[in-house]
Amino acid sequence: MSLRRFNPYYRWIFPRLLDRVSSAVAEERLALLRQACGQVLEIGAGTGAGFCCYSEAVDHLIALEPDSAVMALAEQQLGRESQILQSRTELLLADAQEIPLADNSIDTVVCFLVLCSVPDPEKALAEIQRVLKPEGQLLFFEHVLSDSPAIQLWQQRLNPLWHRCAGGCQLNRETAELIENSGFTLHDYKRYQHPRFPGIVNQLIVGKGVNSS
Ligand SMILES: C[S@@+](CC[C@H](N)C(=O)[O-])C[C@H]1O[C@@H](n2cnc3c(N)ncnc32)[C@H](O)[C@@H]1O
Repeated sequence: MSLRRFNPYYRWIFPRLLDRVSSAVAEERLALLRQACGQVLEIGAGTGAGFCCYSEAVDHLIALEPDSAVMALAEQQLGRESQILQSRTELLLADAQEIPLADNSIDTVVCFLVLCSVPDPEKALAEIQRVLKPEGQLLFFEHVLSDSPAIQLWQQRLNPLWHRCAGGCQLNRETAELIENSGFTLHDYKRYQHPRFPGIVNQLIVGKGVNSS
């Protein structure tokens, strides 16, 4: 992640591309983030597209993002939000694989198009489990390996190139299984294909993970 700072594509172009893509899923984002409450941690908050979606049920929002160029856009976005929102939001430059927060301190963790990009998603999910309170929830929206064998083939073929150009994003993750294997039970879970997205990223999963123990 740190070497990206010296790459002009990742310094100037990628954060702005990300900003564009983020606005294409505004409806889905609003529907999911409205369910967040209490102490909220948004993992890989990107350019801050989610800030305006949180309701008054959120006491404090920690927007975690490891990429400083992306975080700079999130900071600008936060500056455009209301005073109330600004006062309850904290930007945290950090990695989901090593979350610098106390155990059992968070009510809601949000992962919106993030677990595809984290190098070790199992490690990040273990960290999410650690910081979540026992009754806490993980809200997720992710693109995953397609149900279509033909598209799966293209996802596998294109993955090495995609991974390099799209900030480490992987086209072929089975993220729902990873979430379940990390000790979450899935609720309000939906797996569907987005009608407007290109095939290689249109298989989506959305739902809520709660502690199974
Ligand atoms: C496709 S973008 C989505 C950004 C944002 N959630 C949105 O929907 O606009 C993936 C995000 O995951 C972040 N990311 C990548 N690796 C990460 C890690 N190890 N820990 C936390 N976030 C990470 C990226 O920096 C990027 O902001």
